[in-house]
Amino acid sequence: MTDTPTATTSGSDLHLELPATGGRRAALMAALREAIRSGRLAPGTRLPPYRALAADLGIARNTAADAYAELVAEGWLTARQGSGTAVADRAEPVAPTGVRRPARVHRPSHNLRQGQPDASSFPRTAWLAAGRRALTAAPNEAFGPGDPQGRRELRTVLADYLARVRGVRTDPDRIVICSGFAHALRLLFEGAGAVLPSPGSGRLAVEAYGLGFHRELLARAGVPTVPLPLDEHGARIDGLAAHRKVRTVLLTPAHQFPTGGPLHASRRAAVVDWARRHGGLVLEDDYDGEFRYDRQPVGAVQGLDPERVVYLGTASKSLTPALRLGWMVLPDHLVDRVLAAKGEREAWASALDQLTLAEFIGSGGYDRHVRRMRRRYRERRDHLVAALAEHAPHIEVSGIAAGLHAVLRLAPGTERSVLKAAAYQGLAVDGLADYRHPGIGPDEMPATDGLVVGYATPPDHAYQAAVATLCGILPPPV
Ligand SMILES: Cc1ncc(COP(=O)(O)O)c(C=O)c1O
Repeated sequence: MTDTPTATTSGSDLHLELPATGGRRAALMAALREAIRSGRLAPGTRLPPYRALAADLGIARNTAADAYAELVAEGWLTARQGSGTAVADRAEPVAPTGVRRPARVHRPSHNLRQGQPDASSFPRTAWLAAGRRALTAAPNEAFGPGDPQGRRELRTVLADYLARVRGVRTDPDRIVICSGFAHALRLLFEGAGAVLPSPGSGRLAVEAYGLGFHRELLARAGVPTVPLPLDEHGARIDGLAAHRKVRTVLLTPAHQFPTGGPLHASRRAAVVDWARRHGGLVLEDDYDGEFRYDRQPVGAVQGLDPERVVYLGTASKSLTPALRLGWMVLPDHLVDRVLAAKGEREAWASALDQLTLAEFIGSGGYDRHVRRMRRRYRERRDHLVAALAEHAPHIEVSGIAAGLHAVLRLAPGTERSVLKAAAYQGLAVDGLADYRHPGIGPDEMPATDGLVVGYATPPDHAYQAAVATLCGILPPPV
């Protein structure tokens, strides 16, 4: 039988052999490190309580407790109140002898790539409790084929939550649940049943910096994108005038992705005016709107005109991208078209996860989690800013008022060599160039060299080392 990552091993199951002589604590630590390194103890494996281990190995309890504590401090193990000691996620086993890994596969030791919240902070206990309550209370019909609009329980709490926290104007009937933002894009643009664009308006304006993955998804759906330059106030809405055929624009108004600023109030008004004048539509990607650190949240543009703005929210940054749940708040005239694109029955978003999320939001668990994570991410951001101020004060950091990532500006022409240095040091991090729309010319918007640093990504115990490595690869002032 193989060990499951969550299984608890008893002391004798660990098969630790300590040499007969020498310090017991050092010997136990060496044996545990070796068991982890070799892959015998997989990440997540729960270890026996130190008392049981001490009894099995015939050593003093304090010795076992000290060895655990040191290995936690070194990052090999994690200790959580109430759930004991386990092998840390980052403690990577090497391949067992005899199994050949492809030579090129090299897992980075430090991960500051943007794109995910701290996976180790997912509120497992509160989520399980919400799931238990939700499933206990669920009517039998919840276990049958699902309504493509999504569970009413979830749409009802979302309508309240989005109004309260994001200033979204809606009721449950204008919300359609989907499997995250990317799925919303697919529903709107992909295939014969696509909702948009209407005939003759086959281009979509996007920000000059954004996720290549989304641009590619749109390109595959046959929707060419045209870039709007960015400046210190966000997307240049006046740039829409140059694209007479464009009727739809996709923006990240609360926190431009990835450069980081909010869309200026005058631009928010301007884009809604543009949509009214041209019969157009604004798609608002509110991917991390809850995480604002220095001021009150910047409300959703949707609140300015719910008939001209499609609001797109997701649980991917606030909870986890593993959930695959998102929500579309639609103008009235689009609800039936989106439902037609979804088909007769819900085929993507699990009704049981929807019920759990509804219970999680309704019981206040979601608010508590977001508050806790906001505090934690702010501390991480402050640590990053302080470390840079100390070790690389010439590096300008921006986009730090909100979100889960920051942008570090580099001297022109240095981005590629800095990325190489990062890879050499085992640090995974992205360059700004990857996000630049290929259609934007240097005269419309000069390219900037920079790094996009996802400070939410590593677990707590690995964060400081990742930042120290980052500081170590930044070039000196030119
Ligand atoms: C710019 C942007 N939009 C949207 C999303 C959310 O995507 P999804 O809901 O498909 O996970 C992300 C990533 O979390 C993102 O970076």
